[in-house]
Amino acid sequence: MNADRIAVLYRWIEYCAFGKALERRRFAFLPLIREARNVLIAGEGDGRFVARLVEQHPGVRVDVLESSGEMIRLARQRLPPDAQVTFHQGDAMQTPPGGPYDLVVTHFFLDCLSDEETGRFIRGVKQHLSFDAIWLVSDFQQVSFWPASWHSWIWLRVMYAFFRLSTGLRTAKLPQIDRALSGAGFELVAKEEARFGLTVSQLWRLRPKGSQL
Ligand SMILES: C[S@@+](CC[C@H](N)C(=O)[O-])C[C@H]1O[C@@H](n2cnc3c(N)ncnc32)[C@H](O)[C@@H]1O
Repeated sequence: MNADRIAVLYRWIEYCAFGKALERRRFAFLPLIREARNVLIAGEGDGRFVARLVEQHPGVRVDVLESSGEMIRLARQRLPPDAQVTFHQGDAMQTPPGGPYDLVVTHFFLDCLSDEETGRFIRGVKQHLSFDAIWLVSDFQQVSFWPASWHSWIWLRVMYAFFRLSTGLRTAKLPQIDRALSGAGFELVAKEEARFGLTVSQLWRLRPKGSQL
């Protein structure tokens, strides 16, 4: 996926399609993060989330994994000069650059990966987390009950077609994020859905070693 071509317009395309609904998803559980010290963000995009994170947690250190140089350029512009944010341009599937991280953030990123890649990404990142790490996710989901199932089915097809044409995105199907995170040893702590179930925010916590599934 190469998001360079859509980077500048990305925010406006999102607002036209969803208003501030995705913005609400990204920030939904930020107030629950009492202390973030060392954070890993994958597929940050144009920097709206990292800017809010730094504003609320000024001492935080952040590694951002982002493949698009244009997205990184936009994100840098949103940050204060003293922000301790390091951008790593490249494939987030590579080994994370540091750690241990106490917070991982993947907002509308895992939907760019296949099921296999999502599982591999989560297991890879897990090796770089502190024992009490939190994982924040926002993403789309396919609703199973009618008529909301039609609503989500149509939107997902439209969005995958849009990203395939504009960025070359190869996958066309949502990965099973819940299954991948819980299979990797995370437990769901909080969840909020919106847009008839099409969008979801979740807060996951690494299950303490030795605890029951
Ligand atoms: C759909 S956008 C989501 C951006 C933002 N997080 C948001 O909440 O809207 C996906 C972002 O992930 C980046 N991305 C996609 N695949 C990637 C990969 N394998 N490694 C690093 N970044 C990737 C894209 O460049 C893009 O900025």
